[in-house]
Amino acid sequence: MHQTDDILESLKFIQEHTDLKPTVGIILGSGLGPFADTLQNAVRIPYSAIPHFAKSEAVGHANEMVIGTIADKTVVAMKGRFHYYEGFSLEQVTFPVRVMKALGVEKLIITNACGAVNKAFNPGDLMLITDHINLTAANPLMGPNNPELGTRFLDVSEVYNKSLRQTIKDVAQEQGVSLREGVYAWWTGPTYETPAEIRMIRTLGADAVGMSTVPEALVAHHSQIKTVGISCLTNMACGILDQPLSHDEVIETAERVKSTFLNLVTEVIKR
Ligand code: 6GU
Repeated sequence: MHQTDDILESLKFIQEHTDLKPTVGIILGSGLGPFADTLQNAVRIPYSAIPHFAKSEAVGHANEMVIGTIADKTVVAMKGRFHYYEGFSLEQVTFPVRVMKALGVEKLIITNACGAVNKAFNPGDLMLITDHINLTAANPLMGPNNPELGTRFLDVSEVYNKSLRQTIKDVAQEQGVSLREGVYAWWTGPTYETPAEIRMIRTLGADAVGMSTVPEALVAHHSQIKTVGISCLTNMACGILDQPLSHDEVIETAERVKSTFLNLVTEVIKR
């Protein structure tokens, strides 16, 4: 199938740049990219150079793959991701996850910056994703299923791996990081939500809302990669505070929690 050929071409290109064999993947959301700069022996490959990768221009994202090591672990980090709101197909959005699987990734940490819907949460909080709600009516697994990549009708009762979640909670507790837990709702964007939409999303049972993560998590789960998600709640969602949302606030808050986030993720990967 052409899908498999494309993955193998990307894999071959990446392997021409490094002998490292990553087993841990991480997708870095807005403002969280600096994590990639902490990798040792790092090789950096711009997405624009990798065959079959989409060309992204999202603000606040560096758009490169960084492969390197942390202690005895080899990691592939995506510094910047492809978003559905940029007009990419969900196949393009999730293609890097297929390539990570081909590289040998067994565990994936997906991060994002998103809005808090739960009124008890605060900007700057980190939230472990327990589950998600797909509000987009789109699904990256729609279309012909390639059985070499995964099953047709995927069980999604545990997209976010429980045992990896426990590891993250243990590390957070040891580091004195207050880690929230909750349900992430996926909104296409690029507009934020109206106050009425946020009331709806809260009623449906979500604690946070954002424009990413769910497609990558579904494809990682389809690929039998053990997956976890960590959200940085950069702002309260619309209608909670009496003020408009700004992308600058999102970036500023992500910047503020960067070191807490880096320490948490570094220790989680070491384990
Ligand atoms: Cl309030 N909504 C969405 N969809 N994405 C966000 C956000 C809100 N805040 C940061 N990212």
